[in-house]
Amino acid sequence: MANIGTKTLNDGAKIPALGFGTGGAHFGKSADAAASLAIKAGFTHLDTAQAYQNEDSLGISIAEAGPSIRPKLFICTKLTLLPPGKSVREAFLESLKKLQIDYVDMFLIHSPMFVVGRMKEVWEEIESFQKEGLAKTIGVSNFRVGDLEELLKTAKVIPAVNQIEYHPYTAKSAQPILEFNKKHGIATESYGGLTSIVKQPGGPVDPVVAKIRQRLISTTGKQDITDAQVLLKWLEAKDLIILTTTSKWERLQEYLAASSLPPLTAEEVQAIDDAGSQVHFRRYQIMKHMDAPYVANAPAPKL
Ligand SMILES: NC(=O)c1ccc[n+]([C@@H]2O[C@H](COP(=O)([O-])OP(=O)(O)OC[C@H]3O[C@@H](n4cnc5c(N)ncnc54)[C@H](OP(=O)(O)O)[C@@H]3O)[C@@H](O)[C@H]2O)c1
Repeated sequence: MANIGTKTLNDGAKIPALGFGTGGAHFGKSADAAASLAIKAGFTHLDTAQAYQNEDSLGISIAEAGPSIRPKLFICTKLTLLPPGKSVREAFLESLKKLQIDYVDMFLIHSPMFVVGRMKEVWEEIESFQKEGLAKTIGVSNFRVGDLEELLKTAKVIPAVNQIEYHPYTAKSAQPILEFNKKHGIATESYGGLTSIVKQPGGPVDPVVAKIRQRLISTTGKQDITDAQVLLKWLEAKDLIILTTTSKWERLQEYLAASSLPPLTAEEVQAIDDAGSQVHFRRYQIMKHMDAPYVANAPAPKL
């Protein structure tokens, strides 16, 4: 198994600090080959969602890995926008069936926009899954401060995790939600951490990351250190749980090797923050409500 550290959540569960996701490049596509490679490489934290339409393919890789691996895995899925008449419980049980498992390690509300006007009742239902042992940990994703304030008014269980798009080009705008999460004991999980490389190359973060990569190469003597690893070290320095993905064996190794590199200095972390703060770029436009001011029960912004 790879040497991935864990973080302890507010419910006592231990979550592997680096996870592999079947969203992003795998969204809407079968992800079993990629997920099987990730499990083989040593990833145990596997992130999916009803909206990705590929929970069944992750289920295939989990089943193929064999029953003895299940206790070592941390499997997360997320509630999507449900069609009229379909209950949260029906959708959740369908997820378990597709994943070929009898509990998930974590279940998240994918977006507050998927539960507009129903947040209280949906969270109560999700709390009941936790009580029944069907979802060990429960949490949210793409929640702003206002969304969490609304949830916390009636929640019996404080969400353990808030999964958000976090990279140098969203870091400045995400600062209030990061602080709110921390204050309430909610762990922040990042997705899209490599956006400055993958979707916004040529921006002000690139030369700063390149300079830090050179410093790490001269400190360690390792010539193969990459910009992606520098960004993973920056996320690590922020004490975040990190989600990433790939379908390539070499890249899985690259991601895993980042944990054994020395940490960035406080000045290096600040230099990436400063460069990132010059641009605001949201990669996942479906979550653009994150850039809109919170208005209680406001309808989801049109795409
Ligand atoms: N809660 C939510 O709303 C939400 C939204 C989005 C994502 N997520 C979760 O987070 C996971 C990761 O998200 P993400 O894909 O945005 O993460 P990411 O870590 O920012 O991007 C991963 C992608 O980076 C590419 N990449 C890595 N190094 C590269 C390089 N040097 N040059 C070019 N491309 C490079 C990989 O491409 P290759 O495949 O070619 O290696 C891979 O597809 C998803 O799978 C999903 O589980 C959650």
